Amino acid sequence: MKRGAASVLAAALLAAGCGVRDDEAQLEAGRAVYNYRCYFCHGYSGDAKTLAATYLEPKPRDFTQGPPLDAAAILATLKHGREGTAMKSFTGIISEREMAAVAAFVEHEFVRRKAPNTAYHTADNGWPDHQRYAVAYPFATGAVALDTPVEQLDAHQRRGRTLFLEACISCHDRARVADEGPAWSSRPLSYPRMGFQPGDYGPPKPDAVSSASVYAQHDIVPVIEGLTPLEKRGESLFQANCAFCHGADGTGKNWIGQFMEPKARDLTLYTREHAGGAAARDDPRRAARHLDAGVEARAAASRGGGGGRLRVTRLLPP
Ligand code: HEC
Ligand code: HEC
Ligand code: HEC
Repeated sequence: MKRGAASVLAAALLAAGCGVRDDEAQLEAGRAVYNYRCYFCHGYSGDAKTLAATYLEPKPRDFTQGPPLDAAAILATLKHGREGTAMKSFTGIISEREMAAVAAFVEHEFVRRKAPNTAYHTADNGWPDHQRYAVAYPFATGAVALDTPVEQLDAHQRRGRTLFLEACISCHDRARVADEGPAWSSRPLSYPRMGFQPGDYGPPKPDAVSSASVYAQHDIVPVIEGLTPLEKRGESLFQANCAFCHGADGTGKNWIGQFMEPKARDLTLYTREHAGGAAARDDPRRAARHLDAGVEARAAASRGGGGGRLRVTRLLPP
């Protein structure tokens, strides 16, 4: 915030003490409340061009537009809030005097004067000479939509767009886009997705959103022709006991495998021949080879005995 609420309040009280008009002191007290309590939804300039506004429905009111509000109506909203919206009642949070002050401030500053209140990027606020980034301002204010096709931008705007994407978007998000695109998934991104159950390696059940998951691709059991009986046994052992972590295709790029630390190994790079890399991945028999590696691991475990390896031995059918 440009000015701490407390210091502005103090300045306002001081000003009042010095005999400056009371309503000016009240205005400054109102500004302090506003710049602490309201700006992140309604905007420093009261125009509701805030990140919060991009998430909220209904959106915070733009005080500079629409039917003019008076202080009494503003005060009533502050006291009672707006049920079912992000506009909560401020009763018990700020005093009646503060409510009256901020209501007067909103009416005076935004509804009537359409004044800018305060800028955020000022030297006091730790942004000296922010004007040097002016080329990117249109993308921060929404004057130019961020998804305007690049060919339609002139050289100046292209520079601005690049700067905006590098240095401003982390706070400003996109001030305006022409096409909002599909809504982001509101689902939590947690395991299990798509009704996945351990041991259930059937084809993924697609749905409009989660079938976009790249992880699901790695839980499809590869069809491998011409396996020897030993390899076949290894395959069913692998799918029953190992695929949960290493993925049905052995890559470890399934959901669980990706998020384990350390990550479940990509067994397609772990062949007897140590033939790693793209060549091994493109080989249709790669899965057979990693199953082979699995069988070897199993054999080693039976031979070796002790420690964590015993867990692998226990997985063997009698
Ligand atoms: C650390 C977060 C942050 C970064 C980074 C940031 N801004 Fe801002 N910017 C804000 C906030 C907060 C506001 C005030 C929004 C409001 O009016 O409520 C703001 C407001 C603005 C405004 C309106 C005038 C003003 O100063 O309040 C412009 C123009 C602007 N930013 C441009 C930029 C540009 C260009 C960049 C990149 C070079 C940038 N900003 C980077 C947080 C940021
Ligand atoms: C968390 C976000 C948020 C904060 C913080 C917030 N508001 Fe709001 N405000 C809203 C939303 C959303 C609406 C629109 C409600 C609706 O459409 O009914 C709104 C509506 C209003 C209205 C009603 C305008 C009308 O059309 O009658 C006033 C007045 C108002 N806010 C003032 C304030 C003041 C003053 C503060 C700070 C003391 C504040 N708000 C803080 C989100 C917020
Ligand atoms: C609970 C999850 C989990 C299961 C089940 C699992 N693994 Fe692993 N596996 C891992 C992780 C994690 C690593 C990587 C460990 C590391 O990098 O230290 C790994 C590593 C490996 C390696 C590489 C070992 C090395 O030293 O490089 C092989 C081979 C392997 N697993 C085979 C199997 C086989 C065969 C099965 C089934 C019998 C199996 N895994 C079951 C999680 C699992």
